Amino acid sequence: MAFQKESVFNTAKTWIKDIGQVIRTEIDQPRQIDTKTNPNDLVTEMDKKVERFFAEKIRTEYPDHQILSEEGFGDDVKTLSGTTWIIDPIDGTMNFIHQKRHFAISVAVFHDHIGEIGFIYDVMGDVLYAAKNDEGAYKNDERLQSLDEKKNLTESIYLFNTLWTTENNIVDDKKIRELVKTVRGVRTYGSAALEFCYLAEGIADGYVSFTLHPWDFAAGAVILKEVGGVIKHANGRDLTFLTQEPLVAGHKDVVDRTLTHYIELK
Ligand code: IPD
Ligand code: CA
Ligand code: CA
Repeated sequence: MAFQKESVFNTAKTWIKDIGQVIRTEIDQPRQIDTKTNPNDLVTEMDKKVERFFAEKIRTEYPDHQILSEEGFGDDVKTLSGTTWIIDPIDGTMNFIHQKRHFAISVAVFHDHIGEIGFIYDVMGDVLYAAKNDEGAYKNDERLQSLDEKKNLTESIYLFNTLWTTENNIVDDKKIRELVKTVRGVRTYGSAALEFCYLAEGIADGYVSFTLHPWDFAAGAVILKEVGGVIKHANGRDLTFLTQEPLVAGHKDVVDRTLTHYIELK
């Protein structure tokens, strides 16, 4: 069946707003917190509840669509042929638990390998970032402007987890420290999805991470593309959106200079 972009967009938007309201209502309830790959890799009953909500809705409404998601309610997705929902039910779970703010629902819909729809919902701020492929990106009702034509690294704000400036087995941390010394400032918000929105808004200019999964960056990639931003594998190639990938994102000039001078994968 042909991909009904407008209808899928409107349906997804309604679901996101509805479950966002549930999260806000239940924000002060006691949490059941579990760990996954390490003691700081957290998941709560709410992450699972939100993902289950989307999975049940999608399987009922769109039985031929696939789901690529974080908490186990999705499919074993091997290709982006056909229609695929890429979902992070709560991006920024640590913020959700400790701070009760600065977390987001991230939902992308890809059709035949193309990112057609992207939503990132700042739940507590009630701010919805949304984009359709080739139709622009919006922050609530306000259209986001294209990013400035030129950007120097020395006038850029960078976003990343400060962990990447410490010794690690993925990237040369010395070069990341050189990047820190070169740029105007560095910020860490603790939600990759929201950080992609800040790049799209032009309030930050570059972002690096080396351990993100498709659900962390798929919706962000759709939104960023609409303002002329880019997102690249840390080796300079295109992302596959199928597996965990190291990446650089932001203003084109910033991404180019970062890839050329500051990223050396081990
Ligand atoms: C995490 C957040 C965080 C990033 C981590 C992600 P989660 O997602 O996006 O900002 O640094 O790499 O795993 O686990 O809260 O969905
Ligand atoms: Ca995430
Ligand atoms: Ca998550």
